[in-house]
Amino acid sequence: MKRLFAALLVAALPVISTAAHAADIKKGEDLVNKGGCIACHGAGLDKPIAPNYPKLAGQYQSYLFHALQQYQTKHQTPLYGRNNPIMGGIVAQYNRQDLEDIAAYIASLKGDLYIRDEMH
Ligand code: HEC
Repeated sequence: MKRLFAALLVAALPVISTAAHAADIKKGEDLVNKGGCIACHGAGLDKPIAPNYPKLAGQYQSYLFHALQQYQTKHQTPLYGRNNPIMGGIVAQYNRQDLEDIAAYIASLKGDLYIRDEMH
């Protein structure tokens, strides 16, 4: 039994070490909950409080990541960036990995924008 466990551990190690840089949906969920995103983007990030506040749930992960990154001042250039003051203030606290995790979590939510299942 001990030997089996050791073998499994060795087999799993490369997976664990590469996963360190992959997006972590659970961590993204924690960051979204702590970040108070539902205050504006609504329950399940799918029911915004105003028509000009976007729905997020189920949007593509890559789109969400780039949108979030674009709100950070350091990514703003005339060709690449968004200067919304609300979101700019919110994303200032996150590093790149946080944004990857947040994007992965939001993309996993089955909201109105989640169309991947229907496409198959
Ligand atoms: C105080 C209100 C408010 C809060 C809180 C808020 N947002 Fe936003 N968010 C907005 C508004 C308004 C926009 C649209 C800004 C624009 O026009 O670029 C937006 C846009 C976005 C977008 C871009 C969507 C798209 O389709 O381009 C993402 C992603 C996003 N928010 C994620 C988050 C996350 C993650 C949190 C929590 C950490 C959060 N927001 C908290 C108001 C808010």
